[in-house]
This record gives sequence, structure tokens and C-alpha cells, in this order.
Amino acid sequence: MTSVVLSVPGSEASAERLRTRLGAEVGAAMVRHFPDGELYVRIDSPVAGRDVVLVCGLDRPADKILPFLFLAATARDLGARRVGLVAPYLSFMRQDSRFHPGEGITSTYFAGLVSGAVDWLVTVDPHLHRWSSLAEIYKIPTEVVRAAPAIADWVKQHVPSPVLIGPDAESEQWVAAVAERVGAPYQVLEKTRRGDRDVSVTPPDLARCDGHTPVLVDDIISTGRTMIETVHHLRGHGVREPICVGVHAVFAERAHDELLAAGAARVVTCNTIEHPSNRICVADALAEGVRARLGS
Ligand code: R5P
Repeated sequence: MTSVVLSVPGSEASAERLRTRLGAEVGAAMVRHFPDGELYVRIDSPVAGRDVVLVCGLDRPADKILPFLFLAATARDLGARRVGLVAPYLSFMRQDSRFHPGEGITSTYFAGLVSGAVDWLVTVDPHLHRWSSLAEIYKIPTEVVRAAPAIADWVKQHVPSPVLIGPDAESEQWVAAVAERVGAPYQVLEKTRRGDRDVSVTPPDLARCDGHTPVLVDDIISTGRTMIETVHHLRGHGVREPICVGVHAVFAERAHDELLAAGAARVVTCNTIEHPSNRICVADALAEGVRARLGS
């Protein structure tokens, strides 16, 4: 039977891109607030015996988690065969350790919540740093979709003679994969984060940027400080204006504008989070990941 794609409010565009690629049915559901702030949830499409694909972008997660959990529980309660979560951006992954006494390791707690709510998870480039794979914390089958091929295609089409730059050790996994596909050199810098907005990054090797367009690649742009610090190193040294590429356009507050103001020639992101900077579509790759789960 055809699977049903249901969107958690706010993820409609992403759900529709996926649905058309899967040839799945669009599911009808309602999530609304009662006057007292509690949630009303209803699924109008028949889901009994069917695969339900729940799409929920998890940036700014606080308002999305309860609708997601309630929709998943309702689908199961109505007899869905399996319920899967497609989270193009998977939040909480950066809190993967107790950095200070008393802190919660929320990546683990969130993984526990999701693992109890759905049968599988598909996401794009989760922030795997101290966790080496999602299987370390998720108890359900997971599929990780890579944005590198789509990013590499974009770089090849739009950037003459690029040199790829990863602003921190974690970014090597993304920057190396893109550089290999583009056939371009890359370098990885070292970052020290002392606070949410207090970041320093070691200077890039400017000699290796000579004659190239620097393309900074990172998984998440949040406050933008990581990218901004790297852009500052590049500006004013006769190097071409850098292009900033992020997989996930989290962009806290005015981060996007601040990054442009710092001297980025362009800021380009994948469409895992809807944002005006989205230029790189990962929907085909995401659909592949979902097919792999539905077919298993
Ligand atoms: C963490 O290491 C990630 O890969 C990113 O570098 C980080 O999330 C970027 O955050 P921000 O934009 O706040 O510097």
C-alpha cells in the first residue's frame, strides 16, 4: 500500500518535496492549540496498516517536539504499520558531552525520546563529533543522508578554482568529502569555543588560497561566529572574497546578515531548514534514504 507523508506544522515544504519524489500520498492532519495552550491532534487520512512518514525539521525544536510526538503516537494508535521520522535537521546533536558539571547530555535524552516514538529515522548530516554514529544513542534503525554530493555539484557549477576550508576539526568529514568530489584542495582549521558567541579559529594558510576562491564549508551555521571568525582571517590579505556554505541554515537571530557584513561574498545553504540562503537541494538524496528505510 502507498505510504502516507504527514508534515508536522512548519515542515510542509520539505514534506511536499519528499512526497513527490516518493510518489507517496499526502496525509491530512491537524495540530492546533486549545485556548489554554494544550495541543489538539487529529489525523484525517487512513493510516491503518500503512507506512507513515512523518516529516519534522527540528530546528528551533521546543515548539515542534510535542506535535511530532503526538502525531507519531496518534499514527501508531490508529494502526499504522510503521511510523518513521524524516528530520532533515536533527537537533541537540552538539550537546554530546557533559562540558560543565551538572549539564544534561541532551543528544542522548532526545535520542531516547525519538527512539520510543517512531520505528526509524532519516536525517541529513547529523553533527557526529563525540558520537561516532547515531547507533550509539538511537535505538532504532537510522539512515544518514550526505549533503556532500549536492554541495560539490553546486561548488563545481558556481565557483572557479575553489579551495575548500573547514573551520574546525569536526568539519573535516564534510569538507574532505566535498573537496574530493570537486577535485579541489582543502585545509582544516582549529576552533576554540569559549561560549555561545565567543569563538576563535586559527588562521588559514593564505599561501594555499592564492589564486583560489575560498569556500568555507561547515555542517551548521548557528550564531555564525565560526564562519565570521574564519572570514575575518581571509579578508584584507589579497585573497578572493570567501563563499560560505552550510548544510543546516540554523542562523540564530541576525547571524545571516552578520556573516554577509563580515565579508562573505555569498552565503549558501542546503534546504534542510527553509531559509532564503537555500540554493542546494538535498531532496533527492533524502528520498533515497527514505526509500531505503521503507524497503527494509
Ligand atoms: C560545531 O562544531 C559545528 O560543526 C559548527 O561549527 C557550529 O555549530 C557553528 O556554530 P556557530 O555558527 O554558532 O559558530
